[in-house]
Amino acid sequence: MFVIGSGAKHLEDEMRQLGAEIIEVELRKFPDGEKYVRVMGSGSEATVVSSTFYPQDERILELLLIGDALRERGFEKLRAVVPYFAYSRQDRVVKEGEPVSVRAVMRALGLYYDELYVVDIHNPRTLSYFPGKAINVSPARAIAEYFGEKLGEGLVLAPDKGALGRAKAVAELLGVEYSHFEKRRISPTEVEMRPVEVDVRGKNVLIVDDIISTGGTMIKASSILRKLGAGRIFVGVTHGVFAEGAIERVSKAVDELAVTNTIPTPVSRISIVPEIVGLQSARE
Ligand code: R5P
Repeated sequence: MFVIGSGAKHLEDEMRQLGAEIIEVELRKFPDGEKYVRVMGSGSEATVVSSTFYPQDERILELLLIGDALRERGFEKLRAVVPYFAYSRQDRVVKEGEPVSVRAVMRALGLYYDELYVVDIHNPRTLSYFPGKAINVSPARAIAEYFGEKLGEGLVLAPDKGALGRAKAVAELLGVEYSHFEKRRISPTEVEMRPVEVDVRGKNVLIVDDIISTGGTMIKASSILRKLGAGRIFVGVTHGVFAEGAIERVSKAVDELAVTNTIPTPVSRISIVPEIVGLQSARE
């Protein structure tokens, strides 16, 4: 049985269409701004789905309140499915005195939830901060299905070596080549960015990554690909955390931009709902 938090309302219809059984939950605010949560159903196991996009802190707190309410009703096993996990990029201390924010959020969720599922978390190693079982759900199938036909005999590229696994997963499903961009210093003041060991001339290219924020990474990568004579350029990203104007800027620079629906945006055209509903049936 699923409980849909405020950060997954946009996924609810599709989840129902795919046969998900959903427990009703009342979510509202007290006049002073505090959250009110009430879960209606009963049972022994529940999977709470909620993405933690803006307002992140509120959605994280809501996950804790739903967890508390479910425990109060006697649910024994609780899973949290957090398609977009806020604070996932704050995974190390940069300046002394800072927290490892992703760890703090994982530990807090661990107070209520036995299992955690996150779609394409920024740094999969951070899942080890969650005290129970924690799984990274790959969006590769969804991205490959969406772009496969358009890409044809093209290739998949990651904007940096760190994202190579993402490119590999999509490329292997499509049976095409993959690689990543690398930065090479060509003079004390110039850094060149190029795809490694692949010839993009005349080929369609799909660039994949976990997050688009300002869009700077994708715009830079696509302008290099244009100079190198690539064919059509597609961008398929998991989480559209778009800064103001980023959708327009990236859309202008490439032939098509599409992100998954872990965050609802005007270009969230790739659905990860089958992956979420599939988590339930995989356990039955
Ligand atoms: C960085 O480590 C991430 O994987 C993304 O490449 C980054 O967040 C993209 O940011 P932007 O869209 O601002 O270039």
